[in-house]
Amino acid sequence: MDILRLDYNYLMAEAVGDDQGIREIDLDFVRKRAGRFARDISRQRKAGELAFLRLPYDRAVQDQVAAVAQTVKARFRNLVVLGIGGSALGTSALQQALHPWVYNVYPQKGCPRLFVLDNIDPRFVADVMEVLDPSETAVCVVSKSGSTTETLAQYMIFKRWVEEVEGRAFKEHFFFITDPEKGPLREIAEKEGYVSFPVPPGVGGRFSVLSAVGLFPAACVGLDIHGICEGAARMDSICRVDSMEENPALLYAALMYLMVIRKKKNIHVLLSYSNRLYGLTDWYRQLLAESLGKRFDLDGKEVHVGPTPIKALGVTDQHSQIQLYVEGPKDKVITFLKVEDHGANLVVPEGVEDHQALKFLEGHSLGEIMEAERVGTEFALKKAGRPSCTITFPRVTPFTVGEYIILKQIAVTVMGRYFKVNPFDQPGVEEGKAAAFALLGREGYEEKRREILEGLEKDLDLRI
Ligand code: PA5
Repeated sequence: MDILRLDYNYLMAEAVGDDQGIREIDLDFVRKRAGRFARDISRQRKAGELAFLRLPYDRAVQDQVAAVAQTVKARFRNLVVLGIGGSALGTSALQQALHPWVYNVYPQKGCPRLFVLDNIDPRFVADVMEVLDPSETAVCVVSKSGSTTETLAQYMIFKRWVEEVEGRAFKEHFFFITDPEKGPLREIAEKEGYVSFPVPPGVGGRFSVLSAVGLFPAACVGLDIHGICEGAARMDSICRVDSMEENPALLYAALMYLMVIRKKKNIHVLLSYSNRLYGLTDWYRQLLAESLGKRFDLDGKEVHVGPTPIKALGVTDQHSQIQLYVEGPKDKVITFLKVEDHGANLVVPEGVEDHQALKFLEGHSLGEIMEAERVGTEFALKKAGRPSCTITFPRVTPFTVGEYIILKQIAVTVMGRYFKVNPFDQPGVEEGKAAAFALLGREGYEEKRREILEGLEKDLDLRI
């Protein structure tokens, strides 16, 4: 069994110095709370709350998703996913982690190509529509609320696009994933008779990747969704203990919280030394930002909290970001993602060039060179007193990806408790959504429209 590891040596004061690193006294400061949070979570779990924690065990949904995916595979050459934020990032992350990056050029045998349209940039959307044949394309529309402007606009465009070619048969092309009872997309799914899956009540977008939201597209492209859920279930089972040092989610949450509160590290960099895991850094960026970035705490006090997540790719960003991380402001903590076995062994051959600047590379694999550079970066950061930790994937498999997903979801839930905020809402996003409705003339938003238009006068505008 592949098991993730968390190495946090270089977060500690012994490695990076007393003023930058965590001391025993800091761990004592959070230990009691960590245990309490673990017990709270298990109480909530028993009371049927924290619905995302049930997803890895929902075999019925997984089997249903897999069965419908078979029909998609049999009938379509392309799968287009329409959705945004938590309705898309998990799908992209699973695809990037578990399929080769050239997947759409060489799709898995008997599976469709996958296009996740998580933006409404007209060129981005048109590029895909111009090359796909509607008669060979399934469209999966994902929106928990069923009312997200971007997704609804895309749906209408794609419905017309398919209908023009397929006539009444267009219905067979659409698969909806939305609230089980309410919202415009649920109503449309019922009216049109589309095949649909529910986003379980109580599961918000960024916590939904292990529901049909992420699993249906994943199953369509031939990913092992049961393996993903088994990994998630295993991690969930070890994140139930209330001893901080034995529970990786509790420990990671405590360490990151201490980094903010005691060490003033409000910038949290996720630095993936694997292209395959880079999509998961994107996914985590949203999870952390939307869950913890809050104006008010649970008592209604104005707090303006939330670490800023940054994603970066090793070794690529060693030539872009590391200068800043090593010598810039001391406001960052780095989490490396390391992979032991990348599943490819490319060795620099001998005798290609007889030059001492190249000779030393002979016989080393690219994996070895990458790891040497990761360790080098870790060392440089430590030497400069910059804290870091490393999450190691023995291999990138459905199981380890599932483990990682639930680890981070539980850790963020716990961090919400430290910061005393609700990690499951996103009021700051709602304001922008309402403003867009108003500007686009949606009924009931006339007052908001007036408010926005009054504030739109801008006179500092330089022609460049
Ligand atoms: O995590 C979240 O809740 C959000 O990012 C949503 O996923 C995003 O706003 C899209 O919302 P919906 O799924 O309702 O279309």
